[in-house]
Amino acid sequence: MKELLAETAERAACYVAAIGNRKVVPGVEDVARLESLGGALPEDSCDPAEILALLDEVGSPATVATTGGRYFGFVIGGVLPAALAANWLAGTWDQNACMRVMSPVAAKAEDIVREWTLGLLGLPASSAVGFVTCTTMANFSGLAAARSALLQRCGWNVEEDGLFGAPPIRVVVGQEVHVSVLKALSMVGLGRSRVTTVPADSQGRMRADALPPLDEHTLVCIQAGNVNTGAFDPAKEICARARDAGAWVHVDGAFGLWGALSPLYAPLLEGVNLADSWAIDCHKWMNVPQDSGLVVVREPEHLRRALSAGNAAYLTQSAEREPWQYTPDSSRRARGIELWAAMRSLGRSGLRKMIERNCRQARLFADRLRAAGFAILNDVVLNQVLVSFGSPEETRRVIAAIQADGTCWCGGTQWQGHTAMRISVSSWATTDDDVERSVAAMIRIAKSDKK
Ligand SMILES: Cc1ncc(COP(=O)(O)O)c(C=O)c1O
Repeated sequence: MKELLAETAERAACYVAAIGNRKVVPGVEDVARLESLGGALPEDSCDPAEILALLDEVGSPATVATTGGRYFGFVIGGVLPAALAANWLAGTWDQNACMRVMSPVAAKAEDIVREWTLGLLGLPASSAVGFVTCTTMANFSGLAAARSALLQRCGWNVEEDGLFGAPPIRVVVGQEVHVSVLKALSMVGLGRSRVTTVPADSQGRMRADALPPLDEHTLVCIQAGNVNTGAFDPAKEICARARDAGAWVHVDGAFGLWGALSPLYAPLLEGVNLADSWAIDCHKWMNVPQDSGLVVVREPEHLRRALSAGNAAYLTQSAEREPWQYTPDSSRRARGIELWAAMRSLGRSGLRKMIERNCRQARLFADRLRAAGFAILNDVVLNQVLVSFGSPEETRRVIAAIQADGTCWCGGTQWQGHTAMRISVSSWATTDDDVERSVAAMIRIAKSDKK
């Protein structure tokens, strides 16, 4: 075992050392070689070292270099060194984070990260926090709590009696609602199409002046950080209206909520802490390994009621916080440990600097591209940039050529009728040199073979 782990460490270190010098995407031949991992399942066992070698030799070249500094697709973070190290050690421990009795260390890490996160983001200190896989599941969990609370007010117990025959809940979303909120609405039985949609402004912000009348049976889903523009819905106005009416506000704050870490961006989030539930991502801007999100609910009882499983004689319940009472799943890996390591290693000022650096780098991208004559389609308020290289066909050509070139990676989108390339700067590993190299490649490609 010791030799195997040492060999793993050696191979992983080589991967990390090479990441900055390779193309961001694998070659066609690298992807084709993945076939050699398949075939018929061997009848006999083999040495784990052979498995490791095969996985590294075939698998590593077929990865996308999201842990390098020049991946700007979707919204994807890298992995901080302390978080990766903690992930390895916690993987070795193989803890089940379901119940405190199964893993005191996993439960304690969650307790600490819960407290640190609420403090960092300025959310109510007594809120419940569940450690989930992603923002989609955090949205699902927050909306399940909202559904439970709103129906309880009408005397309906949705956990016991389900939704058939339940009083209706009105759901309000912005025109630029993220698709994961609609998916979560569909999964909690509220439906993705029976929503009232509020128009958005040119940056994608929900127009507070266009909100419909709200009441105590209304769920309002707002957004902190638009996936295309980075813009924030006006939380202060919306939450004030919702509070007066007794409505529930859920915030999809996947990456944007982390903006609260910096006094430069916190004003964009004014009033967001007045909401009732929040969905946050950790594998994006918190730069922990993939598969990490948080749901936060102001009044813990609603999340508990929505997600706790009930009793079984063999399951134990301590007087302390029991992790599985706040998540849709029961058995799961101890992802709180990586979060603890990420936060503990950077500290408050390190976390703030990471956020501020990425936002500054987003502005650097925008400035360079604008100076080269290309149109920036959004106000660069956070870490997201939208750029057009001309006609839709030309923008698509440039995106495809940038992806094939491999210096960096960016995806495309449609923004209010325009075809655009998205640049999302979300990795601790991105240096200013990475930005300059990437922008130079973008400009070279956009100016070559121009149709
Ligand atoms: C605003 C917003 N909400 C939700 C999500 C979905 O996040 P996840 O993939 O972690 O479920 C994203 C992903 O980029 C996002 O930007």
